[in-house]
Amino acid sequence: MTKKTSGRGQRDLTVKVKTARGRKLSSTRWLERQLNDPYVRRAKAEGYRGRAAFKILELDDKYRFLVPGARVVDLGCAPGGWSQVAVQRVNALGEKQGKAVGTVLGVDLQEVEPIAGAELHQLDFMDDGADEKVKAWLGGPADVVMSDMAASASGHKQTDHLRIIALCEAAAELAFDVLEEGGTFVAKVLAGGAEGDLQKLLKQKFTKVANVKPPASRQDSSEKFVVATGFRG
Ligand SMILES: C[S@@+](CC[C@H](N)C(=O)[O-])C[C@H]1O[C@@H](n2cnc3c(N)ncnc32)[C@H](O)[C@@H]1O
Repeated sequence: MTKKTSGRGQRDLTVKVKTARGRKLSSTRWLERQLNDPYVRRAKAEGYRGRAAFKILELDDKYRFLVPGARVVDLGCAPGGWSQVAVQRVNALGEKQGKAVGTVLGVDLQEVEPIAGAELHQLDFMDDGADEKVKAWLGGPADVVMSDMAASASGHKQTDHLRIIALCEAAAELAFDVLEEGGTFVAKVLAGGAEGDLQKLLKQKFTKVANVKPPASRQDSSEKFVVATGFRG
């Protein structure tokens, strides 16, 4: 690994990674991108489990749904960045004195390291009856259902797109069942065409539906987020 210095004596902090024997070029590029990504550095410095935390921070800074006292469901929560942010913002640990205390329920296919203030479960949300399990764990209504679920990439763009839409639709179905009137639904989608029906449905169920690409979402990725606010109940 080398750090470059620019001609005028100014330090250019871009990290270049040399291709090591046994490491594929794609892995070298990935490593180089991680090392040079300011969000990766910030996540490390601020104690978040991944750069994804900044996506929900930026979305919440704009739409303000993670308020103290809110009950949040985080679908596809591993490794836990979004849940960490939710715990802080909804005051799940009761650290903001005099403010309402919220709850965070996270589920993921993978096991998630415990997060103080969050209830975490390992579950394939696409399994039959998964939503019933989530509802039982929740034990009542929610104010926010958010999903960053993404199936591992197949390499086929259209297949990946359809898979993510299926995950998003399943998340929306849960949201329709558990959200309190006025609640918020946030989900990751990929730009690519098949999301039209979902958008139509969301527009019927919510007063406002926005499609957003927060700054923390990589420009070269086709991901974007749908933020639906004001659930009609
Ligand atoms: C981009 S990551 C989520 C990152 C997370 N928001 C964070 O801040 O750490 C996507 C997650 O979706 C999960 N996932 C994909 N399909 C799922 C499914 N059917 N049920 C539950 N989780 C799923 C994956 O296991 C993965 O951990």
